[in-house]
Amino acid sequence: MSSPETLTLLEAIKNRRSLHTLSDDIKVSDSRIEEILRDAVLYAPSPFNSQSARVVLLVKDEHKKFWDMAFEVAKAAVAPPVFAAAYEPRIKLFRAAYGSILFYDDPATLHEMAEKRPMLKDHLPQLWTMLTAEGLGCNLQHYNPMVDARASQQWNIPATWSLKAQMVFGTPAGPLMQKNSEPLEKRIFTHGTTKE
Ligand SMILES: Cc1cc2nc3c(=O)[nH]c(=O)nc-3n(C[C@H](O)[C@H](O)[C@H](O)COP(=O)(O)O)c2cc1C
Repeated sequence: MSSPETLTLLEAIKNRRSLHTLSDDIKVSDSRIEEILRDAVLYAPSPFNSQSARVVLLVKDEHKKFWDMAFEVAKAAVAPPVFAAAYEPRIKLFRAAYGSILFYDDPATLHEMAEKRPMLKDHLPQLWTMLTAEGLGCNLQHYNPMVDARASQQWNIPATWSLKAQMVFGTPAGPLMQKNSEPLEKRIFTHGTTKE
């Protein structure tokens, strides 16, 4: 089953944003989310075809459990005023969402030439865009490495896998943040093109 509305790839890319205020009342089925995840992992390119990325999908209570853990480990790790001002409100926002996708690298599969390349880039943009095309909102977080040990224990994740990021998703429930874009003249340079 695919999305009821078919977006062009460019439209889907333009619609993708970071959304931090999300609800867990979602209209997309778990099986559709799993299908998107499978496609994103199967079709993503990887350096030297090393395919070392691993993803763990947590939804509903398991998702809430992850953010409860993040709350506990952050509370123990950072100074109380910093926790109260920066961590607590954000972790509560993430917990209110529907699911989290944990992105790992499995170093055992790394091609020696691929070792220094950031694997995270392989899957993120496609998956983020695909979930957005389903009407979901997403944001990307890095509560690693502080949650790694607890998460490995909780979900039987090999201790050798290295957690790189957490993508939180749910139904958009708040305003978009203002985003500034650097002028493209400073970012794109062309040579040898023909003016029409
Ligand atoms: C590799 C990568 C790491 C990111 N890390 C974080 C993060 O730790 N926390 C966060 O809130 N957003 C994170 N983001 C989201 C960016 O802040 C966001 O994409 C950027 O501000 C542009 O806004 P947009 O996603 O709405 O287009 C990350 C994005 C990327 C691609």
